Amino acid sequence: MQELVLQSQQRNYPIFIGQGLIQQQHNIQSFCTGDKVLIVSNPQIASHYAESVKALFSDKTHHIYLIAEGENEKNLANYSAILDYLIKHQFRRNDCLIALGGGVIGDLGGFVAASYQRGMNLIQLPTSLLAQVDSSVGGKTAVNHPQGKNLIGAFYQPHAVLIDLNTLATLPQREYISGLAEIVKYAILGEAKILELLQTNTDKIIQRDPLILEQLIYLSCAKKADVVAQDETEKGARALLNLGHSFGHAIEKISQYAQYLHGEAVAIGLHMAINLSQLKGMLSEINAEQYHQLLSNLGLPQKTNCCKKPAEILDAMLLDKKNLNHKYRLILPTDSTCVIVEEPNNVLLSQAIEMQITLD
Ligand code: NAD
Ligand code: GLY
Repeated sequence: MQELVLQSQQRNYPIFIGQGLIQQQHNIQSFCTGDKVLIVSNPQIASHYAESVKALFSDKTHHIYLIAEGENEKNLANYSAILDYLIKHQFRRNDCLIALGGGVIGDLGGFVAASYQRGMNLIQLPTSLLAQVDSSVGGKTAVNHPQGKNLIGAFYQPHAVLIDLNTLATLPQREYISGLAEIVKYAILGEAKILELLQTNTDKIIQRDPLILEQLIYLSCAKKADVVAQDETEKGARALLNLGHSFGHAIEKISQYAQYLHGEAVAIGLHMAINLSQLKGMLSEINAEQYHQLLSNLGLPQKTNCCKKPAEILDAMLLDKKNLNHKYRLILPTDSTCVIVEEPNNVLLSQAIEMQITLD
């Protein structure tokens, strides 16, 4: 087992990473000081892992709250229903909510934990690759609004994160590949070791080689922990973690969160960010090409048919929380790292988007 500590102003907390962790007794119990745990999950994930999680907290009273699968479940109705459940069953602040699932469960469960009695104990137990390398770490919690993704939420750090690689065994391949997009994001942000691992082990990664995966997850969480420690509430450097996301969120929104998985939309968004940076002369052709190639070698989508014209994506990007002064606030890769730019609506931006639109 490997352990990282994320240091934040809200709290410092451990991120445990390893194989078979939910089947092993260890000090995760110490993060729940009350006598009850609520496991928030969905039927599919719970059928595989809820019994093991209950066994991990064998001295507590267990409750389980299941929501249906899918991005559309990250909504205010489910948020409110889980709060009703906690109130009805008289949960206290020192009882624990365990978010057992992918980013949808983690974001929704995290936001419930953030607001119930002004903050209850929270353990993130991510089961998708995307959640293991990104969403379970760093304290962003949210639900979606019909007008946009993650519009209602809070920064609320978990008390511990338990990443058991073995839970990936039941993750569908499409979901798994989608999660790789967030790892590519860290590589483009300048993590040379991640870039090298991705480029030299592509086939093994697609086949889920556990030793390489454990390294990638550890390095990804370490990078995220480092950025969050510098800028917990995204006043500056943390915005870099949104590389590819402004475009990606717009693609998800236009396709009503139904056509693309989050990581797939982010992958197409990464291509758009790379295009724009190259068009603006900020990124060399050789680096742009190696990033495009890496994304496609990993089996991530390159193009979208969610719309016919860039203007549709640009309109959908207008509500992005990062925008300031009526300009698009974008993260663009350079040859060594990434930078934040304020970009007005212009020809290059449209062109960068259009390069990834297909009419097929
Ligand atoms: P998800 O939570 O919908 O999970 C993907 C699918 O895989 C679901 O159908 C789920 O039931 C299934 N699944 C998950 N783990 C499984 C397992 N081990 N076995 C079998 N099936 C499993 O999607 P996701 O890609 O994990 O997360 C996407 C969400 O995360 C989005 O809502 C996105 O906005 C959010 N997100 C949040 C942050 C953050 O910092 N908070 C960062 C990135 C993404
Ligand atoms: N996924 C971006 C962030 O956590 O800031």
